[in-house]
Amino acid sequence: MNSFEYRNPTKILFGKGKIQKLKDNIPANATILFAYGGGSIKKNGIYDQAMAELGAYRVIEFSGIEANPKYETLMKAVDLGRKEKIDFILAVGGGSVLDAAKFIALAIPYDAGDPWDMLVNRTAGQQKKAIPIGTILTLPATGSEMNGNSVISRESSREKLSFGSPLVFPAFSILDPTVVSSLPKTQLANGVIDAFSHVLEQYMTYPADAPIQDNFAEGIMRTLIEIGPTIIDNPSDEISAGNFMWSCTMALNGLIAQGVPTDWATHMIGHELTALYGIDHAQTLAIIGPNLYRVMFSDKKEKLAQYATRVWDIREGSTEEKATAAIEKTVAFFHLLGVKTKLSEYTPSYKETAAIIQDRFATRKWTALGENGIVTLDKVKEIVELSY
Ligand code: NZQ
Ligand code: ZN
Repeated sequence: MNSFEYRNPTKILFGKGKIQKLKDNIPANATILFAYGGGSIKKNGIYDQAMAELGAYRVIEFSGIEANPKYETLMKAVDLGRKEKIDFILAVGGGSVLDAAKFIALAIPYDAGDPWDMLVNRTAGQQKKAIPIGTILTLPATGSEMNGNSVISRESSREKLSFGSPLVFPAFSILDPTVVSSLPKTQLANGVIDAFSHVLEQYMTYPADAPIQDNFAEGIMRTLIEIGPTIIDNPSDEISAGNFMWSCTMALNGLIAQGVPTDWATHMIGHELTALYGIDHAQTLAIIGPNLYRVMFSDKKEKLAQYATRVWDIREGSTEEKATAAIEKTVAFFHLLGVKTKLSEYTPSYKETAAIIQDRFATRKWTALGENGIVTLDKVKEIVELSY
């Protein structure tokens, strides 16, 4: 295992009814920017539950944060937050609303020009000021509730860029599994696949003498395989909902990445598919992930074979045979959850995609992705073409 320094400052309040703890965790006298999405929280009662706890505060609402939150929308929240002098952000929603809150939190005090520059120039992590954030998570998937990462899209340039900052870890996140019951099947499947892919990004590299990390990662994947179909079938099953929620958080709160190599090329390529065609984040991972493993097979086959045995119980065959079977099992799992795995199943205009992505990465000088930079631009092209 490699050396590491790890700190995760987010307090988790897990369980049914934890929304009632809201006011114990927000500073008294705070002026709160209450940020949410397109209105699901009004239909399922989460808005009312949260508002009932916030009577003593000055609350400024900002709604309409879309899936794959847009810079253009968020700058309106930044203007509002500055005008109203908000000093706390409560994000109530899925990864998009939580990510949006992180951008707003850094952008409000940013005085060096256009906040988008922080993403382009990768300076978000060096900022010294951010408004504190608390969250009520309504969609288990991204891990945004317990990490310092965010992904923001810009409509005008069709870009989707990520950033990270230690200042935007939520101070607290409320994980009440009953919120899962109102999620549509597509979002549930997306959540399972996003979390599963997060584990793969931090696991499917090469053996690194880190059995504790491997066991954590394999445990999360086995749990998602076990409960994924159940939760899609019955999102009101509170036991599965709780395990689903915590699996998603554990998949991307930084823990399983410590001391081991990580990949993340599937995500980098996937973000381009969302930026170009509006395909849901998790669907892009289902399209790219298995093909990345096919193209990078010789570099990843040991770990693929370990995954085959320990996650999919494939015990027969050579390393190569087990590794190949594990990729097929992964694709079958995504199909079982109702998610398609070919780009052409999502957009008719796919034929130039590999060249477009290759160009975009070259312009940004992203020429060596993945663990040890093994996913070169040629490999990116091959992976995307194989995904058609
Ligand atoms: O907007 P509303 O009306 O709330 O509806 C949302 C939205 O349409 C709906 N929804 C959320 N909770 C619900 C619900 N509907 C019914 N009942 C509920 N309880 O679900 C839709 C999708 O929500 P969204 O927040 O977009 O989904 P998700 O959580 O998958 O977030 C995706 C975003 O997170 C980024 C992705 O790139 C994408 O932009 N990611 C963030 C990461 C991070 N911060 O660490 C890592 C991930 O890899 C990912 O990149
Ligand atoms: Zn993801």
